[in-house]
Amino acid sequence: MHGPNLDRLGQREPEIYGSTTLDEIDTATSALAEELGIELETFQSNFEGAFVDHVASLGGRVEGIVVNAAAWTHTSVAVRDALLATGVPFVEVHMSNVSAREEFRKHSYLSDVALGVVYGFGPQSYLLGLRGIHAHLNTH
Ligand code: DQA
Repeated sequence: MHGPNLDRLGQREPEIYGSTTLDEIDTATSALAEELGIELETFQSNFEGAFVDHVASLGGRVEGIVVNAAAWTHTSVAVRDALLATGVPFVEVHMSNVSAREEFRKHSYLSDVALGVVYGFGPQSYLLGLRGIHAHLNTH
């Protein structure tokens, strides 16, 4: 799950987010999913309501979620509640090291209810998050 402005990866603030596009991230995560033998679907929206609706549609349908909620991480009780309502574990991921940036990025509405958090590894954050939730689901 990709939140707002992540569709602009590759062009957006490359000094922070690098040159990898969202399509390339989705291709890499899909390849890893295939290698791990799991089915993966991806979704991106710049609209909070559409994102919340999509999260709601995952309940009962998926076993786990890897989510980069982007700016909503720091602002949205609605996204937090939607993820909680699915009843499935989720991993919070960020490309950048959010602890080393502006003060407002240090607070997350998701971290305390996430299975785990991965940040600062660029596109690898998604792959590490996927590996983490896969390992968790295989041992629980
Ligand atoms: C981000 C970090 C957020 O603070 C920011 O609003 C984003 C991207 C990241 O992946 O590093 O849009 O989630």
